[in-house]
Parts: sequence; C-alpha cells; structure tokens
Amino acid sequence: MKEILVIGGTGAQGLPVVKSLSSSKRFAVRVLTRDVNSVRAQEIAQLPNVTLIQGTQDNQKDLHRAFRGVYGAWVNTDGFTLGEKNELFYGCRAYEIARHEGVQHYVYASTDYALKDASWNEDYHWGHNDAKGRVADFILAQGQTGAMKSSVLTTGPYMDMLLDGHFVPQEQPDGSFVWANPAKSGKLPLINLEDLGPYSLWLFDNISESAGMDLRVATDEVTFEEIAATFTRVTGKKGVHQYIPIEDWLNAAEPYPNAPANFVAGPNAHRDEASMTWRENFGPWWRYWGEGICQKRDLELLDRIHPTRVKSLEEWMVKYKYEGKQKNVLKGVEDLKKAARLMMDQGKSSDSN
Ligand SMILES: NC(=O)c1ccc[n+]([C@@H]2O[C@H](COP(=O)([O-])OP(=O)(O)OC[C@H]3O[C@@H](n4cnc5c(N)ncnc54)[C@H](OP(=O)(O)O)[C@@H]3O)[C@@H](O)[C@H]2O)c1
Ligand SMILES: *[C@@H]1O[C@H](CO)[C@@H](O)[C@H](O)[C@H]1NC(C)=O
Ligand SMILES: *[C@@H]1O[C@H](CO)[C@@H](O)[C@H](O)[C@H]1NC(C)=O
Repeated sequence: MKEILVIGGTGAQGLPVVKSLSSSKRFAVRVLTRDVNSVRAQEIAQLPNVTLIQGTQDNQKDLHRAFRGVYGAWVNTDGFTLGEKNELFYGCRAYEIARHEGVQHYVYASTDYALKDASWNEDYHWGHNDAKGRVADFILAQGQTGAMKSSVLTTGPYMDMLLDGHFVPQEQPDGSFVWANPAKSGKLPLINLEDLGPYSLWLFDNISESAGMDLRVATDEVTFEEIAATFTRVTGKKGVHQYIPIEDWLNAAEPYPNAPANFVAGPNAHRDEASMTWRENFGPWWRYWGEGICQKRDLELLDRIHPTRVKSLEEWMVKYKYEGKQKNVLKGVEDLKKAARLMMDQGKSSDSN
C-alpha cells in the first residue's frame, strides 16, 4: 500500500480526500494535525489505514518528519491562520522538503491566482489567497523530469459555503431567504467538497496524465441570481439575491472593528506589515468572485475524470437537502466557536464562585 501524507486533512477540504484515499484500499494515509485528540482528528483516525502525526504546517522539523517515508503528499496549507507571508514561505518549503525526503508524487491544493488573473490590479489582491497561486506556479515551474512528479488541484469557493460563512442566506420574517451581498453578475465556480475525494484519487492513480497538470475543478458556475432562483426551484421557498455595495456589506459583516484577516487564528497569531485587515481581505475577495474574473473550468474534462460528479447546483441542493440553514463546514470557524463557548462557560463559573 502506498502512503500519502495529507496536510490539512482535518479541514473542510481535506476530510473528503482522506476518506476517498482510505476507502480506495490502494492508499494508506498519514494526516498532519496540531491536535491528534480533536474530534475531527479522532474521527478520521477510525478509518482504515489512516494514522495521525502531530505537528504544524509552519515548522520545518515537523514537515521533514511528516514527509519522511511517504510515497505521495496532498497539501492544503491554511492561509487563513498562517497569513499570506507564512503561507508563501512554508508553501515553497513544504515542496522543497518533500523533494529532499524522496516523495514521488506531490499534489498541491491551490486556488485561483486572483491578482494574476486580474492583470496585477491590486483591487483584486487578498491575503488568504494569492500565496497559493504563487506557490502553485513555483511548483509547476520545477518541471516533471526529476524523481518527484507534481500536480495542482485548483478549487474556487466551496459550494458547501452556502451552509457556512459568507454564502449563507438570511431567513426573513416572511419566510423568504435573502442573499444580500456585493456580487455582480459574475459566475462563481462553486465546488462540491465531497467530489474533491475522487478528483484527488484520480490525480494519484493516473500520474502519467496528472503530472504537471493544474486540475481546475468546479461543480457548477453560477451567479448569485442563479443561486437564489435554484433555491426557489428546489425548496419551493422564495430566494432573493439583493445587491449591496461592498462598503455596506463590509460594515455589516466585519467580525469586530479593525479585525485582522486571520482573526480566527486568535489574538496571538503572527501579524506584521504584510498582514491584511479583514476589510482589506474581503473587499477584493468579493470583487474577484462577484465580477466573474476567474478562468472558466473545463467541465468536459471533469466529466471524464469523475463521471459521477455532482453536475449542477440544483443536483447538489437536492442531494444534500439544502434548506438555507447554517451548518459547520470550516474547522477554523468551528474551533473559534468552541473557544468562545469555553470562555463564556469559564466566565459564568467564575461569576458563580
Ligand atoms: N472556504 C473556501 O471556499 C475555500 C475555497 C478554496 C480554498 N480555500 C482555502 O483552504 C484553506 C483552508 O482549508 P479548509 O477550507 O479545509 O479550512 P478548515 O476547515 O478551517 O481547516 C483548516 C485545516 O488547516 C489545518 N491547520 C491550520 N493551521 C495549521 C497549522 N499551523 N499547522 C497544521 N495544520 C494547520 C487544520 O488542522 P488542525 O486544526 O487539525 O491542525 C485543518 O486541517 C485556506 O487557505 C483557504 O483559503 C478555501
Ligand atoms: C489496512 O487496513 C486493514 C483494515 O483495517 C488492515 O487489515 C491492513 O493491515 C492495513 N494495511 C496497512 C498496510 O496498514
Ligand atoms: C486512472 O487510474 C485508475 C486506477 O488505476 C484506472 O482504473 C483508470 O482507468 C485510469 N483512468 C485513466 C483516464 O487513465
């Protein structure tokens, strides 16, 4: 059995990848996590041929230990907690260390390189994103002639974000659901997270085709008007997209005044001149996705690679019984909520003492 190191395997994106690799029976999986005792880590540790290794993405000794002895690697660094500068450094270092350790196939989980797609217009540059585009270019630039092959898996916004974060609609007193946001008429390449499992498995299984490839995936390419209309069609409840200017959206959604972009990482996370505020981060994010600047996906290629993929937003809403309600998807946000609850409980118990 070939072993694959998965970085980010307890996260929204990594979980389905770990599950697919494990259930294929062709691969064993080693998952790097900061906490082997977390609920999500313990859940995947129950799967056949999945083991955990404790360590962090931003420690080179941990990376050496993690890559040592594995056949392949699937790497999703968390730009949200690392910040742009660290994600760029450790993104490149992880690739270099994997080569040193003799890894044979490296799959890098990237996102659209927004600033480059926007012809270097800084209005489309945000901190939890562009490091991945740079690292993907760096990796593919090393070529495929050496001992290690590499592939890139590029995802846009998760379709599952309709359940968590900025794509959850607000239920109104009259029973309708409103997406009030600054998206214009751009089609967003939303990806069903569960399908990242089969795509990743295909990349590892078919190395002669996948070496050097940037597999750009999406389930469906839809505008927010279409999201609201599909919701109405599927649920019978009224869905509405209401355009609001970016400044108004930022004012309403900012977690707290002057919040940093990586606020989920807590007050002691690394921050410096290169760090963005939450507002600096999410203005460009909305502009890029909401104006449809990203490159279109090759849906025919995706049908060939993964014939049973979910093929439309409508199919996804039916399959997952979507009702416009919030549900935890992102581990970072889930951890933050847990920490907040713990602090409140501690506050209560010290009040009563
Ligand atoms: N949300 C979207 O629509 C979307 C779309 C495309 C790309 N992305 C990108 O995906 C990345 C986040 O992944 P996700 O969506 O799976 O988020 P997530 O559910 O919040 O998971 C974060 C993952 O990163 C790990 N992690 C965080 N900091 C770490 C550190 N210092 N060392 C080791 N592991 C660390 C966590 O592992 P442990 O807690 O177990 O250590 C967890 O597995 C971000 O870079 C984001 O930009 C997001
Ligand atoms: C994989 O898991 C199965 C079932 O748990 C076990 O029997 C087998 O020994 C494992 N293989 C490896 C290589 O760990
Ligand atoms: C990819 O690899 C799998 C497993 O080895 C194989 O069944 C499949 O035919 C391959 N697909 C392509 C398109 O080469």
